[in-house]
Amino acid sequence: MILLKAVLTVIAFLFCMCACGDQKGATQAIPDMQLEFTPGQLTGAEVCGTCHIDIFSVWQSSRHARSVSNPIFQEAMEDAVILSGEKARRFCLRCHAPAVTVAEDYDLEDPIVQEGIGCDFCHSLTGTVLEEPQNPFVLQVGSVKFGPVQDAESNAHDVGYSEFHTSSLHCAGCHQYTNTHGVEILSTYSEWKTYQASGGDKSCQECHMPLVLASVVDPKVKRVEGSFVNLHKMPGGHSRDQLTKSLRLRIIELKKSEEGVYVKVQLKNSGAGHAVPTGSPSRKVVLSLQAATSGQAEPIRAQRVYQRLVLDSEGQPILKDSRLIIDGVKVASDNRIGPGEERIEEFLLPVSGDGNYTIRATLTYLYSPHNRPETETRIDFFSEERKLLAHWKR
Ligand code: HEC
Ligand code: HEC
Ligand code: HEC
Ligand code: HEC
Ligand code: HEC
Repeated sequence: MILLKAVLTVIAFLFCMCACGDQKGATQAIPDMQLEFTPGQLTGAEVCGTCHIDIFSVWQSSRHARSVSNPIFQEAMEDAVILSGEKARRFCLRCHAPAVTVAEDYDLEDPIVQEGIGCDFCHSLTGTVLEEPQNPFVLQVGSVKFGPVQDAESNAHDVGYSEFHTSSLHCAGCHQYTNTHGVEILSTYSEWKTYQASGGDKSCQECHMPLVLASVVDPKVKRVEGSFVNLHKMPGGHSRDQLTKSLRLRIIELKKSEEGVYVKVQLKNSGAGHAVPTGSPSRKVVLSLQAATSGQAEPIRAQRVYQRLVLDSEGQPILKDSRLIIDGVKVASDNRIGPGEERIEEFLLPVSGDGNYTIRATLTYLYSPHNRPETETRIDFFSEERKLLAHWKR
């Protein structure tokens, strides 16, 4: 009894500490640990974070938590509004600030909308209807938080076991989109279906939310057996560690001839459950080759770019996110590396002379949203170097 009292005191203290923010949808002083929910309103991530401390701090560092505040997105959305009118704002925010579908606040004034893709949106989501691309989310907003833990029990809120949360369909409402011209602008989910059809057995969560050592809830609130949680950072193309898992590259043949150095490279998508790159057609992966010799000042270079090229109604390529998703009418080409695919690339580098050569092949992830270097993401994530010595010639 005394112990219980002590626990309650700690909890009350915890809430006083954290009750400073003005959160919509939850009351602040909760002596009996019961959260109160305002019907039809989502609860802010900070409230969830008072107990789910570890998950909250990792989520805060995720791109989902910055999907609205991300300045690259903001600039693209303003461009889209100029090009396509106010309806573009509603459209972009549906995925980048999905709480708008509940709060109806398209001016981004409500903190719940500013927080991007928050806890309560994902844990109130109970289904995805891809046949309705304009409104794919099935939400059950209220006291029940849905998740993957079968025997979860909480005094703070009701819990609902949800197998849906362990399935890739949970992610598909935002990571798959066919626009009004019938073009699949975001196709990560359908690429994943191809991967699954050819024997791939991992879900989005298994690759992007691996189990890590942490506490599901603050042990002061409840001691839960086993100390693993799903990583809520969800690293992707902006993470070198994640990129390194995607493609394997090998120089499998090197030959010197009259015309130069012949290089054969093998590429394999062995680690991504979708094409590489995936997501918006503005993402690119570049394979660069370079042949250098000690005597020669400038190395000889060549490159190949993997991307999906989308055209507008005038047949012009669209390069910016602000137009891609609305104005894309046709996919002109797509040479990305599909899931499980192996690709052979051949190069002839016109080097001259009889010296020793150093051949280097590098893979780079490139996202250059506004054609300005300061907004560019450029990550070298794999490289192999081989020497071609002069005496190998004959
Ligand atoms: C006062 C503490 C507290 C607060 C605040 C809180 N939770 Fe929980 N939550 C718990 C406890 C305790 C559990 C049970 C853990 C267990 O038994 O494994 C839990 C479990 C969960 C689960 C797992 C359910 C399942 O069946 O898989 C989810 C999801 C969840 N909470 C989401 C949220 C969200 C979203 C918020 C904010 C709206 C939130 N929680 C706020 C204490 C809290
Ligand atoms: C983009 C959607 C998304 C967001 C945002 C999100 N979660 Fe989750 N969460 C999930 C999914 C999916 C799982 C289940 C993963 C699995 O089991 O494969 C999960 C699992 C959980 C669990 C169960 C324990 C575990 O790790 O499996 C809790 C508790 C939880 N989330 C709380 C939170 C809290 C608190 C936040 C905000 C700080 C949050 N989630 C944000 C999708 C999300
Ligand atoms: C409500 C919409 C929504 C849902 C649901 C959602 N995402 Fe996202 N996701 C986004 C948006 C928007 C971004 C881009 C944010 C940015 O970079 O500004 C994103 C970015 C990502 C990234 C890229 C990170 C990087 O480094 O580039 C990954 C990986 C990702 N999401 C995985 C998932 C997984 C896995 C799930 C399901 C468990 C999921 N998402 C569910 C909207 C969503
Ligand atoms: C077998 C593991 C695996 C599976 C399954 C998987 N991914 Fe990925 N994902 C990766 C790797 C590795 C990368 C990094 C390479 C890249 O950017 O393509 C990545 C990158 C991403 C990106 C980054 C895009 C960018 O350029 O910023 C997003 C978004 C993403 N995945 C979403 C998903 C979604 C949604 C699913 C499920 C439909 C999924 N992934 C399934 C391994 C996986
Ligand atoms: C159907 C959901 C959806 C809609 C609608 C949507 N986006 Fe996105 N957006 C995403 C997802 C998912 C990502 C992250 C991964 C990727 O590349 O697929 C993303 C990524 C982005 C990025 C890249 C952020 C970065 O720094 O990497 C920009 C910019 C962007 N979106 C702009 C927009 C604009 C502008 C609109 C409205 C015209 C819009 N988006 C509409 C889902 C959506």
